Amino acid sequence: MKSIEVRTLKIQDYEAMINLWRQADLPFKPKGRDSKSEIQKQMEAVPEYFIGAFHQDKLVGVVIGSYDGRMKGWINRLAVHPAYRQKGIAQQLTRNVEKTLKEHGAAIFCALIEAPNKESFDLFQKLGYSIHRETLYVTKRRSKDL
Ligand SMILES: CC(C)(COP(=O)(O)OP(=O)(O)OC[C@H]1O[C@@H](n2cnc3c(N)ncnc32)[C@H](O)[C@@H]1OP(=O)(O)O)[C@@H](O)C(=O)NCCC(=O)NCCS
Repeated sequence: MKSIEVRTLKIQDYEAMINLWRQADLPFKPKGRDSKSEIQKQMEAVPEYFIGAFHQDKLVGVVIGSYDGRMKGWINRLAVHPAYRQKGIAQQLTRNVEKTLKEHGAAIFCALIEAPNKESFDLFQKLGYSIHRETLYVTKRRSKDL
């Protein structure tokens, strides 16, 4: 989409980002790693990992990158506003965050997808990702809010 501007997010975009995740029905952790103070800390550490797509100054897409220090770059919290879907915005955001992660040393790009999520599976497959149906995700948390 021509009139979409992709740029690094600022903490002033926090509320719009949270609203976007809500509108996209994306599970997130407002009391944990997605709280405003946490996001601010993360943004100060690596601002370029927070990427937004804007249409006339309205945030319509978001993605957050993270790097594990062992060549793996993670694509997190990818969401596009329902009215702006299927216009290539998620593709643009994903390519952008891949480029940033690569600059930080990532050679493997990964995302966790909660099944069933056909749009997301189709998106990542289109972008050349392999799906690991045999892999199970295990976690241990200090609190359920994290
Ligand atoms: C998944 C999501 C981010 C895709 O955003 P989008 O901007 O609509 O995606 P794009 O327009 O860039 O689509 C790129 C490709 O993804 C696939 N895709 C996206 N939406 C699709 C749909 N509704 N049905 C089938 N394939 C779809 C297609 O392969 C598409 O390529 P094409 O347009 O050439 O067919 C969006 O649907 C969303 O926000 N969903 C809710 C939140 C979510 O699930 N996030 C992902 C967490 S891992």
